[in-house]
Amino acid sequence: MTDRIGSCLGAPSTVCVTGGAGFIGRWLVQRLIADGHHVVVLDDLSSGTQACSETPRLRFVCGSVLDRSAVESATRRADLVVHLAGLVGMRLATREREQAYRVAVEGTQMLLDRTPSGVPILMASSSAIYGLSDDGAVDESMGDSEASALTYDGGVPGYAVGKWRMEALAREADRPALCVRPFNVVGVGQVSQWGMVIPSFVTRALEGEPLTVYDDGHQTRSFGSVVTFVDCLLAVMRAPGAWSLPRRALNIGASTPTSILDLAQMVVARTGSASPIVHVPYASAFPGRTDLRSRIPQTRTLQSLIGPVSWPSIESIVDAVIGAARP
Ligand SMILES: NC(=O)c1ccc[n+]([C@@H]2O[C@H](COP(=O)([O-])OP(=O)(O)OC[C@H]3O[C@@H](n4cnc5c(N)ncnc54)[C@H](O)[C@@H]3O)[C@@H](O)[C@H]2O)c1
Repeated sequence: MTDRIGSCLGAPSTVCVTGGAGFIGRWLVQRLIADGHHVVVLDDLSSGTQACSETPRLRFVCGSVLDRSAVESATRRADLVVHLAGLVGMRLATREREQAYRVAVEGTQMLLDRTPSGVPILMASSSAIYGLSDDGAVDESMGDSEASALTYDGGVPGYAVGKWRMEALAREADRPALCVRPFNVVGVGQVSQWGMVIPSFVTRALEGEPLTVYDDGHQTRSFGSVVTFVDCLLAVMRAPGAWSLPRRALNIGASTPTSILDLAQMVVARTGSASPIVHVPYASAFPGRTDLRSRIPQTRTLQSLIGPVSWPSIESIVDAVIGAARP
């Protein structure tokens, strides 16, 4: 088992990436192929898009992590599985609440049951498991309460509780397993359709349409570039200590908060748009849900594994997204 982890990504490997047609997945797959690995993407294309055609080093299995034969086919020759499949974005996860839960829990169980034994699985959990706690930076020892994740889901199990149970499955797994908890990963390629804030603001600003800010806009998020996030993922996979963390959980994210109102003003200024900024109550968009006031990761564990991480500024990320979106 240790040998398998030691050789993970150290030499050309075969990596199965579930959700590999999604935002983070496409960036990761591109990097793995550039680094000389073979990749098998397993994605049902429910929200992702197949960006590149198959090559001798990229195989695409169009199917669900809930489907036993698709999972067996995709993981048969894998040296490592990166499990990114999920229903992401408040609009999608609210509309498809049960499916968000099922993909997180039953999809993870399927992978654990059907991936050849001993193959390590790195899973994307979420900072949502910390619930609505906004008491400063959150560290991995927190997030141990299912009730807290339930507050994020508005009292009915969905995306956050699903991720919380995914982590419980990872802790019990009889194989190397690690759950990373991403914090607002953003950048070029993220779509606006499901309410992701940066692509939504940029699209609206370029179209001269109003930018919608919930409540007073003073709620903050720590936005981290997808490029740096993928760098961290790859470094973490190679760090032997990562696979023996006591809780099998790891925060990955930037620590500089930006308020949503500042972000909206930044997008308007940097696009040169005349779009107005309008405030609407969060409760009118998501009845029964409460918006988080702030979310900052404590990243001491990440630094102890891979050293200091330099995250690009929010301005540079916004400029890159604007540049990619301009006709
Ligand atoms: N982007 C973020 O800021 C963020 C934050 C926290 C957690 N995460 C987690 O990281 C992972 C990747 O996020 P993303 O931003 O790339 O999202 P994304 O929506 O762009 O990608 C998810 C992919 O999963 C696929 N998928 C959905 N259901 C599936 C199923 N049943 N079987 C196979 N594929 C399925 C979708 O088609 C899509 O391609 C997700 O698990 C998400 O919960 C992301």
